Amino acid sequence: MELVPLGPGFGAEVRGVGILDVATDTDAYKAVRGAFEEHSLLVFRDQPVADDIQVAYSRAFGPLELTKVSSVGQNTFYSRLTNMVDGKVVAPDHRQILVAKANALWHTDSSFKKTPALASVLTARVLPADGGETEFTSTRRAWERLPVDLQSRLKDAVATHSYANSRDQIHPDLATDLERKALPPVRWRLNWRNPANDRRALYVASHAYAIDGMDDRDARQLLAQLLDEATRREFVYSHKWRQGDAVMWDNRAVLHRGRPWDYARERTMVRTTISATTADGLDEVRPPVVH
Ligand code: OGA
Ligand code: MN
Repeated sequence: MELVPLGPGFGAEVRGVGILDVATDTDAYKAVRGAFEEHSLLVFRDQPVADDIQVAYSRAFGPLELTKVSSVGQNTFYSRLTNMVDGKVVAPDHRQILVAKANALWHTDSSFKKTPALASVLTARVLPADGGETEFTSTRRAWERLPVDLQSRLKDAVATHSYANSRDQIHPDLATDLERKALPPVRWRLNWRNPANDRRALYVASHAYAIDGMDDRDARQLLAQLLDEATRREFVYSHKWRQGDAVMWDNRAVLHRGRPWDYARERTMVRTTISATTADGLDEVRPPVVH
C-alpha cells in the first residue's frame, strides 16, 4: 500500500489497495484502518463502485448507520444524494436541491443523531461536467492551531447540535415535522479525542448552535468563529470527483461541504455511514448527564 498526501496537512490517496481488498482481507483492512486514523481522509481512485461492494467495505470499519426518515430510500444503508427523481432531473425548488444546498454548509455527518458517525464513505455514480466538488478541512489541525487558553476553555465545553439548525439556514420547510420529532437536539463536547493516537479534534458543525453555560448569542458567535477559522481557504482540500472514486472521511476529525454545480445536470452520489462506538472515543465526547 502506498499513501500519497493530498495537501493541507491531512488526507491521502491510497494506492495498491482497493475497497474490495479491504472488504475481503483482514490485513488490507488493518493497513487502511491505520491510514484512516492517521490521515482522516482517504481517496481511492478507479474503484469497482457498486452498492454491495461499498457496504462490504464500510462494514469492516464498524456498524452501519441507517438513513433517517425522509431520505431518498429511508431506513437503508444507502444515502442517495441525487437530483434525479423518476428518471428526470428535479426542478430548482425541489427538496433534493435544497438538500444539496444544505450539504453545502460546512458540517460533520450525523452530529445531530443520538449516535454520531465515525466515518462516511462516498462514491461517485453520475457526475456533472463541472462543479460539485466536495471540500474538506481538518478539525484536528484546527484544534492544534487554537491558542492554548482557548483549548483549555473548550476542552470540557459542550455544544448542542440539531438537524433543524442547519436545515433552517436553507429553508424553513426543509426539515419536516417528522424529522424534527425524530431528531431532537443532542449535546457533544466541542472536541473529540481519538483513542488510537490520543489526538484531539474540534467537534463543530453547522448543526451546532448553543454552548452550555454561555449566552446564546455569544455561543453562536464563537461557533461561527471556530468554523470560519477551521475552514480558511489554505486549510481546505477540494476533491474533484472522477468516475470510480471512493472517498472516506473521519467525521471526528474533518469538516466537509459539497460545492454547487449546474443543478439542471445530474449528480448522483451514494454514501454509507459508519456509527461511532466506544472504541472510537464516543463515550468521552458524550457529556456527563446533568441531574
Ligand atoms: C455527504 C455530503 C457532499 C457532496 O455525503 O455527507 O455532505 O459533495 N456530501 O455530495
Ligand atoms: Mn455530509
